[in-house]
Amino acid sequence: MANIIPLISAEQINFRLHEIGQDISAIYSGKSLVLVCILKGSFIFTADLARHINIPISIDFLGTKSYEGSESSGIVQITHDLTSSIKDKNVLIIEDIIDTGLTITHILNLLKLREPESIRICSLLHKPSRTKVPVKIDFRGFTIDDQFVVGYGLDYDEQYRNLPFIGSIRK
Ligand code: IMP
Ligand code: MG
Repeated sequence: MANIIPLISAEQINFRLHEIGQDISAIYSGKSLVLVCILKGSFIFTADLARHINIPISIDFLGTKSYEGSESSGIVQITHDLTSSIKDKNVLIIEDIIDTGLTITHILNLLKLREPESIRICSLLHKPSRTKVPVKIDFRGFTIDDQFVVGYGLDYDEQYRNLPFIGSIRK
């Protein structure tokens, strides 16, 4: 078992999600909103965040897989597409972590082609020191240093997604 050092507790996550949920509810007040959960990493974040949003929403899922390799190539394979059209909809992409920015940029460009009314990004985590492509993150949970984190949906080799907190893994 790898050494996992706790970084962000379940309580801290819940508190921050409440704040973000209120911001989202205020900004989209009077509008309809589609949350696009980027699988797999965002499934827990999306499920919890949705319960802090108090306006009508629908939820759809975009399954993605980055091509293998230690460094993100930004070339994303779609493993499961959205089940409804997002044309003329207000879309909020829910991502677990933005590292180099390559993956989210690819997803954003793909979804923009479908002509949503608006499209914004919500990411639980951001590693600004690793940026290769600058990304405008409209709603951000936490900024972290350059370290590999797991838990709360995030994996290392498909493990640790079920940890209720976020921890830094020492491989
Ligand atoms: P990017 O294209 O470099 O921004 O990579 C984003 C994707 O890489 C995320 O959606 C995650 O799947 C994965 N990733 C990047 N950093 C971490 C990490 O610290 N822990 C777990 N997954 C990560
Ligand atoms: Mg991911």
